[in-house]
Amino acid sequence: MSELAVHSQKLSKKFGDITAVNNVDLQIPEGEIYGFLGPNGSGKTTIIRMLCGLLTPSSGSASILGLSVPDQAEALRQKIGYMTQKFSLYDDLTVEENMHFIARIYGLRRSAARERISDLLQRYALSDMRKRRAGAMSGGQRQRLALATATIHQPTMLFLDEPTSAVDPENRRDFWEKLFDLSDQGTTILVSTHYMDEAERCHQLAILNLGQLKTQGTPKDLMNELSGRVLEVEGESLRQVKDDILQLAPIQSVAQQGLKLRVLFEAGAQEPANFLENQLQGRRLHISPARPSLEDVFVAATAADKS
Ligand SMILES: Nc1ncnc2c1ncn2[C@@H]1O[C@H](COP(=O)(O)OP(=O)(O)OP(=O)(O)O)[C@@H](O)[C@H]1O
Ligand SMILES: [Mg+2]
Repeated sequence: MSELAVHSQKLSKKFGDITAVNNVDLQIPEGEIYGFLGPNGSGKTTIIRMLCGLLTPSSGSASILGLSVPDQAEALRQKIGYMTQKFSLYDDLTVEENMHFIARIYGLRRSAARERISDLLQRYALSDMRKRRAGAMSGGQRQRLALATATIHQPTMLFLDEPTSAVDPENRRDFWEKLFDLSDQGTTILVSTHYMDEAERCHQLAILNLGQLKTQGTPKDLMNELSGRVLEVEGESLRQVKDDILQLAPIQSVAQQGLKLRVLFEAGAQEPANFLENQLQGRRLHISPARPSLEDVFVAATAADKS
């Protein structure tokens, strides 16, 4: 049986009148890559900061690697790495200087630090730019440096808050290869993202909205749960057709994708294809079932809060 790296119960955080995190229960198995997907302001960073022991919950509890936060935050610090949403290294220090600085904070001995840094420089393709100031690196290079530095003390668990937000697709792919390497070696990773392709790579993910955990599971299971609820509509005057469909009762959302509309029905809608055919009869449209995507899952999980 696999152990849990993170276990939270009714974890909540209020800032004045704002409930940033609302009764979040999390169970993250050891060694998994677990994703947080949620719109801006949904509480991702706030949860991560509580799990790292940097922010005190208003109520509820959380234990990480068997240590409860915030009480045992000091012991936890050596076991986790945290890559913040904003680049938090020193622009004026070189790649190597940044790494030595962080190594010292974690108490690595000088010789151990030299060996570890040389290994990381190679592994993260930073050797050629060891003398470059962090401020003079590209977005992708900076994120590689930030990840290398977050792992300098060989943490058992990594918290990565939108680590690839300024990174091009190829570098994002390379970055994820590194995450899978770490996961293979047993590191548990909690990663927040706005990219559906990244969310789809996670072993499991949680969808958050307005501080609440709306749904969680493997990407495949979450998509399967929407089977039968997604249709595509092709034809003329799609802008008008979209407005018309949105007026119909069991519809959760309609989005145009190129020359098609993607229609998401509410849970429990009866025979969606027949329903839509009937409602739109007389128009020259082609209606067909579509395989649910993770974006559909995201829309379904967050749409109910909008109405
Ligand atoms: N220190 C703070 N003081 C007051 N309100 C805060 C504070 N930190 C966060 N909030 C509020 O809590 C809510 C959740 O914010 P949080 O940063 O956790 O969201 P997020 O999901 O990380 O968003 P993003 O995708 O933009 O990074 C927001 O409404 C935010 O304004
Ligand atoms: Mg955030």
